[in-house]
Amino acid sequence: MEKLVALCKRRGFIFPGSEIYSGLAGTWDYGPLGVELKNNIKKEWWRAMVQLREDVVGIDAAIMMNPTVWQKSGHVDAFTDPLVECKVCHERFRADKKEEITSHEKTHKEKVEWTAPQKFNLLVKAYLGVVEGKQSEIFLRGEITQGAFVNFENIVSSTRVKIPFGIAQIGKAFRNEITPGNFTYRSREFEQMELEYFIKPEDAEGDKWFEYWKKQRMDWYKSLGMDDKKLRFRKHEDNERAHYAKFAEDIEYEAPFGWSEFEGIHHRGDWDLSRHNLSYVDEGEKYTPWVIETSGGVDRSALFFLFNAYSKEGDRVVLKLHPKLAPIKVAVFPLLANKPDLVSKAKEIFDSLKPQFMVAWDDRGNIGKRYFAQDEAGTPYCITVDFQTLEDDTVTVRDRDSAKQERVKVDKTEEYISEKLR
Ligand code: GAP
Repeated sequence: MEKLVALCKRRGFIFPGSEIYSGLAGTWDYGPLGVELKNNIKKEWWRAMVQLREDVVGIDAAIMMNPTVWQKSGHVDAFTDPLVECKVCHERFRADKKEEITSHEKTHKEKVEWTAPQKFNLLVKAYLGVVEGKQSEIFLRGEITQGAFVNFENIVSSTRVKIPFGIAQIGKAFRNEITPGNFTYRSREFEQMELEYFIKPEDAEGDKWFEYWKKQRMDWYKSLGMDDKKLRFRKHEDNERAHYAKFAEDIEYEAPFGWSEFEGIHHRGDWDLSRHNLSYVDEGEKYTPWVIETSGGVDRSALFFLFNAYSKEGDRVVLKLHPKLAPIKVAVFPLLANKPDLVSKAKEIFDSLKPQFMVAWDDRGNIGKRYFAQDEAGTPYCITVDFQTLEDDTVTVRDRDSAKQERVKVDKTEEYISEKLR
């Protein structure tokens, strides 16, 4: 964990939010490599969930919504965590996080007493309006989900969707988490990627689509290189299900801090549509559809893809990210920075690849160090222009995982890289 956190800071994946002012708990800023990784995760998700499907459409709803949305959705009353306070130092914790409570108790010499658990609402409040004292209180969305429900009628009337169909969305959500922690794992501002899939309100349909989406989502993580031995489903117990869920299962990853949820598959039944008084007419028959939801965290996925990719071979740290997720796809080096012929040829190749891929340039230090630096950033391919290039117009392409090199014709490099990334 510490090694990955240090690598994220050193190489520009993830920085603590507002760091120069001592930070803001539960917030993180993504650096040049981190933003590429997150964008790649979102791009692959959108491709799989929207672009390649005929039954799903995308939206991008507002973060600020009429507060009635959150009353109707049940979040004002029920989006709570049980909070307890240490009577010695008044620090607050989630009552259901036994390990955090035990480790806090160890920080005091005396026996710690706790207050009785109180319900603590996680919605983050904001104030809108220009006249001081007359501003109206709103909530920043605690889940991106409600945007799909409030637009249900808009989507049905403006597109050709028919049940079963889905509405997909990616965006920021905000929660006043009692104890943010484990790096980005529990943050107060984070991004979700969600599908709300509307089906006929029948048990057999519910079971079928729940299993279908479980499999789709698990397969997606595996297809992007997550180790299936580190992945599992976990069914929610009756006492841990969210207020909207008829039943729920999480996809968990075995992180250094234990098995941890990073995507939830929820059977929301008709909870949301009936609370918002929405229905659907299917060839003359009117009913309230049920919803199967897949709700993944972009930040948690990014973190777990990083854990999954981290490997150390001797002194060499390699991030074995799937090439589709790698922030930089290819790095281009002139073998020597003081040979103008090598530099100008390498620059030509760098410029020709830029429109297609995220490409890095490096001409500092020796070539071995440059390879190591790209390995640590997860770059799957490095192209080196050497003296042979000037003779036969070929370059070496080095593969990050095997460290093997192949000679490729300069005019075939784009095709070669594209083929590898397909
Ligand atoms: N719409 C359903 C929903 O929001 P959730 O299980 O509360 O369900 C879904 O959240 C996903 O959002 C989680 O699996 C996780 O990946 C991400 N998430 C939730 N809370 C988070 C937090 N505090 N920090 C980072 N990611 C979080």
